Amino acid sequence: MTGDTSPPNHQRTITIPIMSSTRAGAANSIRVNGGNPLSGRVRAHGAKNAVLKHMVAMLLAPGRYRLDNVPGILDVDIMGEVLDHVGASCTRRGPVIEVDVPERLNPEAPLELVRRMRASILILGALLVRVGTARVALPGGDDFGSRPIGMHLDGLEQMGAEFELRHGVLEASAPNGLRGTEVFLEFPSVGATENILLAAVLAKGRTVIGNAAREPELADLASLLNAMGAKVDGAGTSTIEVIGVPHLSPADHTVVADRLEAGTYALAAAATGGMITVEGCDPSFLRMELRKMEAAGCTVERSEDWFSVAGPDRPEPQDIATLPFPGFHTDMHPQMVAFLARATGTSLVTENVYAARFRYIGELNRMGADIHADGQHVVIRGVDRLSGCEVDGCDIRAAAALTVAGLTADGETIVRDAEHIDRGYDGFVETLRSLGADVDR
Ligand code: EPU
Repeated sequence: MTGDTSPPNHQRTITIPIMSSTRAGAANSIRVNGGNPLSGRVRAHGAKNAVLKHMVAMLLAPGRYRLDNVPGILDVDIMGEVLDHVGASCTRRGPVIEVDVPERLNPEAPLELVRRMRASILILGALLVRVGTARVALPGGDDFGSRPIGMHLDGLEQMGAEFELRHGVLEASAPNGLRGTEVFLEFPSVGATENILLAAVLAKGRTVIGNAAREPELADLASLLNAMGAKVDGAGTSTIEVIGVPHLSPADHTVVADRLEAGTYALAAAATGGMITVEGCDPSFLRMELRKMEAAGCTVERSEDWFSVAGPDRPEPQDIATLPFPGFHTDMHPQMVAFLARATGTSLVTENVYAARFRYIGELNRMGADIHADGQHVVIRGVDRLSGCEVDGCDIRAAAALTVAGLTADGETIVRDAEHIDRGYDGFVETLRSLGADVDR
């Protein structure tokens, strides 16, 4: 949301940068001195993977929106820039952002923004149905593999969209408007389900999304859309039914809790043999992850919107396979491996969601872990101790995992490239410090 990214062809409303002051000058490394058992309470912020989609949903109807429980993270700032580019404006006051969406939108997302955040691609369905055209730079691959978007495009095509790729930019149009249809996804892709859902709410007629993603963040998106006047049924199950409506109107919404943030702190405390209570997060969002922590020797207590985890001296080894919700979340995989690095035996983690999510392994091995990847399988031979050193935090969850490892290691760990943490964790270092960790930026 900087002032110099505005496109020449639309009138901008006044925008205020929403980058939080605590992060604006943040240094790029996290220093951890391991050995302190973490203990205390934390409250989960709003979910990154919900709020980004909510901001896109707001493009579906002009007017003023208020979104509460918004985490102070970089990805929200980047989505703010995307909205700004499209012609909307975002203003942040603490955990609240207000979004002003004009009648006319500039339907494009340039490469500069899509490259910084792949989730920018999610504006495709919303812009197509609202404006009738969209120009969105095609995201490339990343550290997780090639990450294609074929399912997004197939679904929208079945609804009447046409796409042409010109010079790296996807030019989309819907000459006869979008109409509801039955779309059956090959894989319950979160992004494809969301892109199709965001288009379906304003498309003509009935859309059924089969083999849909069931993530709680998606159910939260549907609840915002329904508050805006949409008719979405079944979000959170494998079959979502949408009856298109002619128009929507603005609504206010409170973002659902970030289960990945909650789970990361739970694993951080457990890895140190400490105890944590995480408030404001329904433990059923982390059913499989908490079950695996229990099997590894953690004591877990659950209530409706909080849970507590107490860690063992050393975890027992586990076999885990990542799967779409309600399976074990791929975004908890690196943190879980960091936890199991000190297990009393050999664990096996199979990555089923991403083709390549293994760069963090070499970094953990530099700390004395004994881990190797064979195809999609990660074999973790537990070691007695890790020893701190300098490591690269190559993505959000890798940086979190390496910090978890650092909390248990002898001596000092420096996690470089820690700006990845800022993409997904609000006040990461401060929260860990409040739990007794010796950590700073
Ligand atoms: N896929 C395809 N074709 C498609 C779409 C997806 O092959 O058309 C593949 C992907 O390449 C990937 C798998 O399907 O291997 C899952 O992708 P999905 O579409 O479900 O993921 P996403 O929507 O791109 C969201 C989260 C990710 C999270 C995944 C899986 C957001 C902004 N991102 O990505 O979050 O890992 O779902 O749950 O919601 C993170 O928060 O650290 C993060 C990476």
